[in-house]
Amino acid sequence: MLVARRRDKLEALANELGNARAVTLDLGQPGAAGSLMADLAAHGEQVGTLINNAGFGLFGKFVALDGARQRAMIDLNCGSLVELTHAMLPGMIDRNTGAILNIASTAAFQPGPGMAVYFATKAFVLSFSEALHEEVGRKGVRVTALCPGPTKTEFGEVAGFKGNGAFDKISARSEDVVAMGLKALDSGRAVAIPGIANKAGAQAHRFLPRAILRKITGAIKN
Ligand SMILES: NC(=O)c1ccc[n+]([C@@H]2O[C@H](COP(=O)([O-])OP(=O)(O)OC[C@H]3O[C@@H](n4cnc5c(N)ncnc54)[C@H](OP(=O)(O)O)[C@@H]3O)[C@@H](O)[C@H]2O)c1
Repeated sequence: MLVARRRDKLEALANELGNARAVTLDLGQPGAAGSLMADLAAHGEQVGTLINNAGFGLFGKFVALDGARQRAMIDLNCGSLVELTHAMLPGMIDRNTGAILNIASTAAFQPGPGMAVYFATKAFVLSFSEALHEEVGRKGVRVTALCPGPTKTEFGEVAGFKGNGAFDKISARSEDVVAMGLKALDSGRAVAIPGIANKAGAQAHRFLPRAILRKITGAIKN
């Protein structure tokens, strides 16, 4: 089951995959998880693996960015992820098997001046996923937070920094990030960070004071 808003893209992907069903839905809207569960029930389907991928960022100073868009970002990146997980987890626990891959980011590891709300949403996703990993691991459900660094997708365009030379130059291929995430989910890892530079960056908080770390992060983006 593939869920997003743009029907043409979804259907093209469903056709390419062959055994997928496209469902157009705005996951940021209240009640989205409920209508997905109703759709699943109507088709007699159960979710074995939930991938909470839908999300977006916004580049710019908090005060200058639109307030409603930033609230919508929290609703999608955090609210929808929690709601879908809460709706699908009971079935997984009953069946004593299941897997949840939550897409966080390397943004989860430090505050991000210049993308303040986005970084905070990803810190939420990481913390929530790690806690859930502990809560349900013994019930047969694997939970992994995938924390990619810059990756070639539409993310930069949506966030408002397409063309940022540094971002484009260091971006990974989405296929590689996906493969790494699925492997980590299969092997039951709580947190997966693709790429050596991203792994090292995520450890920076161990040897740099947080005050310096957040200044560096802000300087990189601004
Ligand atoms: N690319 C990066 O550098 C990077 C790095 C770290 C983490 N991430 C995370 O990776 C995840 C995927 O992003 P991406 O990089 O692949 O960006 P993307 O190319 O913009 O993809 C976002 C996906 O989410 C869907 N989506 C967005 N808003 C939605 C909504 N309201 N309801 C349902 N679906 C929605 C989009 O489809 P529609 O527009 O058709 O709805 C699209 O399929 C996000 O959580 C992002 O934060 C990205």
